Amino acid sequence: MATATLQKSHAHKPTEVKNQQLFIGGKWRDSASGKTFATLNPATGETICRVAEGDKADVDLAVAAARKAFEEGPWPKMNASERGRLLNKLADLIESHKEELAALESLDNGKPLRDSLAADLPLVVKCYRYYAGWADKIHGKTIPVEGPFFCYTRHEPIGVVGQIIPWNFPLLMQAWKWGPALATGCTIVLKPAEQTPLTALRVAQLAQEAGFPDGVINVVPGYGPTAGAAISEHMDVDKVAFTGEGSTGQIIMTAAAKSNLKRVSLELGGKSPNIVFADADLDAAVEGAYFGLFFNQGQCCCAGSRLFVEEKVHDRFVEKVLQKAKAQKVGDPFDPETTQGPQVSQEQCDRIMGYIDAGKQEGAKLLTGGRRLGERGYFIEPTVFGEVKDDMKIAREEIFGPVMNILKFKDVDEVVRRGNRTFYGLAAAVWTRDITKAHRLANGLRAGTVWINCYDVFDSAAPFGGFKMSGFGRELGEYALELYSEVKTVYVNLGE
Ligand code: NAI
Ligand code: MG
Repeated sequence: MATATLQKSHAHKPTEVKNQQLFIGGKWRDSASGKTFATLNPATGETICRVAEGDKADVDLAVAAARKAFEEGPWPKMNASERGRLLNKLADLIESHKEELAALESLDNGKPLRDSLAADLPLVVKCYRYYAGWADKIHGKTIPVEGPFFCYTRHEPIGVVGQIIPWNFPLLMQAWKWGPALATGCTIVLKPAEQTPLTALRVAQLAQEAGFPDGVINVVPGYGPTAGAAISEHMDVDKVAFTGEGSTGQIIMTAAAKSNLKRVSLELGGKSPNIVFADADLDAAVEGAYFGLFFNQGQCCCAGSRLFVEEKVHDRFVEKVLQKAKAQKVGDPFDPETTQGPQVSQEQCDRIMGYIDAGKQEGAKLLTGGRRLGERGYFIEPTVFGEVKDDMKIAREEIFGPVMNILKFKDVDEVVRRGNRTFYGLAAAVWTRDITKAHRLANGLRAGTVWINCYDVFDSAAPFGGFKMSGFGRELGEYALELYSEVKTVYVNLGE
């Protein structure tokens, strides 16, 4: 039986990466404790470089710098159009450094370079440009109230915002957070994930080059329970935005509640149903289902990890999907032939292998894959389980790895009910040629995004976020501006 093959490495990677410091108040500095941590190359497990390890003392400095920049200096006086110009400049600088940034992203995260170049970088550039356009178009209303009053609203920046991001799309999550925060006029303390701090620091450098005033942007790499907690507990942080695991979101929300009731927005994971009807274009559905699960090594919050296939086409579908899985080239992210890189870390790799074991133990049928590949790095075979039942662990919990779970179904009402039987509600997809059925499902599925005959389509202009325990608040689009603004109502007495 053919299985996916492990690619040999013939690298084209950034030769050497210097040790990194924190970026606070426009200055590069060591951490207050002097501590550093290693960031690893997931393809080899080797250290890329060391990074200053931020903690509470550093977060305090960063918040003070962000507060000062918010209240004094050029930032609060700057015209909105000028903020837009700076964002456009940053987008241009990222674009002109796209090869370098893509390589750095692939080195630190493990994603194939061709994906970084084709997906991450263009989306990042577009996101900054999109929000550059918003900067001078954020306005309130005039409201016809009773009495001799002129009433209007102002949409003001929320203030100092803490942003805590994950490792699966480091550059893109930074763009989703920085774009709207900077467009609205907030100042930022960002904590990148400890697994992937490098591109965030490089973009901070570019932002400085673009001309963002000191203190508007601060980057404090470090661990969650230390630096991350210091942000979410901070009395002078006005808002915290988070993307990551549900239980971390709960800790952050609790910290916000117990400190200063800072505003919170959360983008947590999912267990998204991807539903294939017998009347779908089957080849397109196979492609979409494969991409919707395995893209980014399966490390996507919106992965279509409950793949419901209508009984009538089930066996044909499985056959086609297995062919695809077996043809993948797993290996060195810098090899242009590679279609699947390593998982981000040993921890994630172990976690995924734990789910694969659970799937086998609970009686799902392992159709292909299921093993680690190679001696070093964190590679896992593209894995497909059949005969998956709704109550199995692999059908309920987020796996965040290259593990596809196929479930059978018979009719529309049944699949809507089963699709919604989850605490999550981030995304869903439907494959059918029947327009009525497609819209019935789009209405019936409780999820923040529904894709019809497509998967993983993203656009800076269209909102993204979760129902239920997938979080709240919408990133991207006009909606994201609400996450970074307060509405102020002003009454003016026009009477005598
Ligand atoms: P995580 O939620 O622990 O980490 C995400 C970010 O939160 C990182 O920057 C981390 O340092 C920070 N963090 C961790 N604990 C914190 C705390 N107590 N206070 C403040 N910040 C904290 O996710 P992790 O452990 O990296 O991955 C575990 C699982 O989470 C994955 O297997 C996946 O299921 C899910 N996940 C979901 C993501 C999504 O896009 N929705 C992204 C990353 C992980
Ligand atoms: Mg964690």
